[in-house]
Amino acid sequence: METVSMLKQINEAAAYIRSKCQAAPEIGLILGSGHGVLAEMIEHGTVIPYDDIPHFPVSTVEGHSSELLIGEVNGKTVMMMKGRFHLYEGYGVEVVSFPVRVMKELGVHTLIVTNAAGGINTDYEAGDLMLIKDHINLMFRNPLIGPNDKRLGVRFPDMSEAYNAKLREQAREVAAGMGLTLREGVYVGLLGPSYETPAEIRMMRTLGADAVGMSTVPEVIVARHAGIRVLGFSCISNMASGILDQPLSHEEVMETTERVKPKFLQLVLNMISKL
Ligand code: 6GU
Repeated sequence: METVSMLKQINEAAAYIRSKCQAAPEIGLILGSGHGVLAEMIEHGTVIPYDDIPHFPVSTVEGHSSELLIGEVNGKTVMMMKGRFHLYEGYGVEVVSFPVRVMKELGVHTLIVTNAAGGINTDYEAGDLMLIKDHINLMFRNPLIGPNDKRLGVRFPDMSEAYNAKLREQAREVAAGMGLTLREGVYVGLLGPSYETPAEIRMMRTLGADAVGMSTVPEVIVARHAGIRVLGFSCISNMASGILDQPLSHEEVMETTERVKPKFLQLVLNMISKL
């Protein structure tokens, strides 16, 4: 995307959203498969279909909805994306991360991202929740490639604390207060849509990854470029290939996500009150 037109697109998308909803969001939420139910917790929410927002892409994956929700959760104004965009759907990284640019323009200072991920760390089990400590970008793409517009961020953004350390500390406290076991590990982002081979999973374990998924990385890179602080959680929906003697299926991913949903959502809700 050409930067001149990207700024224009960001402003047009933001202007449309402002015309539908006066509340200024402070917290952005990009929720993974099945986590959209958090929407039910939003009070006085304004629903805006992605279709209606200028320059917003439309999600195509089964089981993913595609609307933006702005409203209050625990006294905070949040902007939630119900349904996110994935590279495997054929979207470019700049498209996938565009909503984060719009969030920034609307005043968001903190982004919470959640996803479903496969466990690589053999100490993990399906159903575990993992605080994302760091990521490894194995998507071989970067949403910041191209001319850099200084108004959006610096040319070479620092990624040494992509996932805010203070927010992680707070998340650990919140989880402890709930009596909830929270893993903390490194998320590796791949293109998908095929799951990995056992050899690839062994490679990624050697590289230092604890969980693997097909999202999050582009959005987090753009958030950091935009100066938004990030908190991320993975729901370990299944163990990655080669760990257990069973094939992987999207059904299992959805089933586990469903099972863990109540505690996962409570954790996110409690975290929102702390921000
Ligand atoms: Cl095992 N791999 C990837 N790439 N994404 C996943 C997953 C595995 N499990 C859930 N999402």
